[in-house]
Amino acid sequence: MYIFHISDIHYNKEDTDGQAKLQRIVESINTQKVKADYVVVTGDIVWKEHKEYYRECFDILNGLNAPYLLISGNHDNSWDISKAVETYLPNHPRAEMEKYFQYVVDKDFVRIIGLDTYKAGYGGGEFDEERENWLIEKLNEVGEKQQVILLLHQYTLPTGSGFFDLHPGAWFIRFNNIVKKYKSSIKLILCGHLHNSLHSEISGVPIISGFSTNWGEPLLDSKKNTPERDTLRPLSYLIHKVEEGRITTYVVPVR
Ligand SMILES: [Fe+2]
Repeated sequence: MYIFHISDIHYNKEDTDGQAKLQRIVESINTQKVKADYVVVTGDIVWKEHKEYYRECFDILNGLNAPYLLISGNHDNSWDISKAVETYLPNHPRAEMEKYFQYVVDKDFVRIIGLDTYKAGYGGGEFDEERENWLIEKLNEVGEKQQVILLLHQYTLPTGSGFFDLHPGAWFIRFNNIVKKYKSSIKLILCGHLHNSLHSEISGVPIISGFSTNWGEPLLDSKKNTPERDTLRPLSYLIHKVEEGRITTYVVPVR
């Protein structure tokens, strides 16, 4: 299975440069020799909770020759993204919770679980008991031969960036403990938020953040608590090749 991974579109009607970059990524994905089973977009679909931007953003994403899966980011109000998906994307999995955009997709030997960590006005997000219990229920259903891929917006480990480490979610530790408990089922955690691609592990389970389709932030040992944009980094996305017992990740720069 091939999972293509993009993130942090921050779709903004005023930002034609950002729209053009997303378009270039869609074209690049469509010309890959391997076909995506899914393109995952790990949150921050629109800019600053502008719900009227979803439709325009979907118009570009609908150019993908593969199904895509969205999750909420700190810029995507849970209710608004659920409604936008329900209204405009009949083939996208529906939210299984009333208040939160959380869902499950089962395909072949893989179960993909989309999580919602939105908390109004807080970049570090939230993953409260209600959302956590739902996740545990979905993990308990997993069969012996199924491999789980989790999608969530925040990277739940320290990043080395003053800006992103300034407001860690208090829930990161609880989430990481769930990963530890279910590490025999969970094979991969995909996230976004950092606008750059960081790779680490939680109890041996790889956690990988995807590049923003729009702009990049340099992160390594930056003590500054304001974001610094890296204008030199090439536009890129990731391809995760998921096999039984092995994950291989490719970085794909976009011409
Ligand atoms: Fe974010």
